[in-house]
Amino acid sequence: MTDHKPQTMGQQFGRRSWAEPWKIKMVEPLRMITKEARQQALIDAGYNTFLLRSEDVYIDLLTDSGTNAMSDRQWSGMMLGDEAYAGSRNFYNLEQAVQTYYGYKHLVPTHQGRGAEHLLSQVAIKKGQYIAGNMYFTTTRLHQELAGGIFVDVIIDEAHDPQNLHPFKGNVDLAKLEALIQDKGAENIAYISLAGTVNMAGGQPVSMQNVKELRALTDRYGIKVYLDATRMVENCFFIQEREPGYDQKRIAEILKEFCSYTDGAWISAKKDSLVNIGGWLAVNDWELFEELRNLVVVYEGLHTYGGLAGRDMEAMAIGIVESVQDDHVRSRVGQVRYLGELLTDWGVPIVQPVGGHAIFVDARAFYPHIPQDQFPAQTLAAELYLDSGIRSMERGVVSAGRNPKSGEHNFPKLELTRLTIPRRVYTQAHMDVVAESVKAIYDKRLQTHGLRLVYEPKYLRFFQARFERV
Ligand SMILES: Cc1ncc(COP(=O)(O)O)c(C=O)c1O
Repeated sequence: MTDHKPQTMGQQFGRRSWAEPWKIKMVEPLRMITKEARQQALIDAGYNTFLLRSEDVYIDLLTDSGTNAMSDRQWSGMMLGDEAYAGSRNFYNLEQAVQTYYGYKHLVPTHQGRGAEHLLSQVAIKKGQYIAGNMYFTTTRLHQELAGGIFVDVIIDEAHDPQNLHPFKGNVDLAKLEALIQDKGAENIAYISLAGTVNMAGGQPVSMQNVKELRALTDRYGIKVYLDATRMVENCFFIQEREPGYDQKRIAEILKEFCSYTDGAWISAKKDSLVNIGGWLAVNDWELFEELRNLVVVYEGLHTYGGLAGRDMEAMAIGIVESVQDDHVRSRVGQVRYLGELLTDWGVPIVQPVGGHAIFVDARAFYPHIPQDQFPAQTLAAELYLDSGIRSMERGVVSAGRNPKSGEHNFPKLELTRLTIPRRVYTQAHMDVVAESVKAIYDKRLQTHGLRLVYEPKYLRFFQARFERV
């Protein structure tokens, strides 16, 4: 017996506890396979967590994409699917939800985010044009490159430093952007590719002031701004929390204001919008919409379903409304933050400040003895799985791919392993188990060896690459 007094989660961190604004109605059993079986599963998967079978995973933090738990209302919406080929009523419900909460005029549904990225890139980029953005995202940049564009990163320098505590590390560096415009000429900039809570920077937000200033700058040069709104709701939480003048505004109001400074947006609804599949592209300009609406028919499906079933559009429409509720966003980001607070307290190097959807472990600092060409972040994901069956993913040199011209690895400054928290799926006890496992592999970090790449596919190699132990 110790004389230690039990404390609630809030008390441990000197604040009041928060709780999820829902209760659980249906459960899915979890199981952990033995250490020997995990070892074998990892070898079979070529040390790539994307190649593990999900039934061999205990707690799945691979991604927050499409892994959301839907509400009873969303499930009942699934039963109201109007599966007509054309003009499904669910499309009009979705269109209305996007117009109401995001504020754009014209909607093109797509099967998921990359479908929308493909359409926008094909329509808005001319070969050889530049696309400036606040850090690249894997599928976004690939579609921009496949359309003949050249991506240029214009995020602020602070975003590349995992320990820098800037409250809006997702901000665009307007001086870098203006220098690019002057160097290349405004007519050679296809558009600005602005992302909310920048995934590759650790889920870091963009401030309202930054997007306003971006609007003013791009207006001077006649350049369009398109928003990757995939995790924009989470971005709005940080504006509400950190930006003067926004603490009394609701998430829904902040979202609409932010979007109003942009010309259009695309989304992977598999994140913020609390569904398992879906996406869209929405713009204000009628002529651009006409082109997009024409192309969607070629690649996705008719313009009133875009590759989705009617029921999926209904679940998305309801999910959008649920996603902007303040208590939902607070508990969602709060859960991520809880895990971050534990790891920070125990000295584990993670990207600070903690972002909206995931904990990003700084794998370079975690394994200082493993060089970047031996894939420290991939190694960390493998070790975590081996320790406890927890699945995470690499966001470092493997994700960054190769330079299309030289064929060399792109070596990003950030070499991160992402523990991504699905929305409304895991409990606080799961977060405790995760934190303890990360700590366990941290304690034996110096005995860990890196990995060697033995196979890589041509595109988006992180999904299917295979490795061996060095
Ligand atoms: C910021 C961001 N943009 C775009 C995408 C692509 O969306 P999807 O996976 O639905 O194709 C994702 C998800 O992977 C993402 O995180």
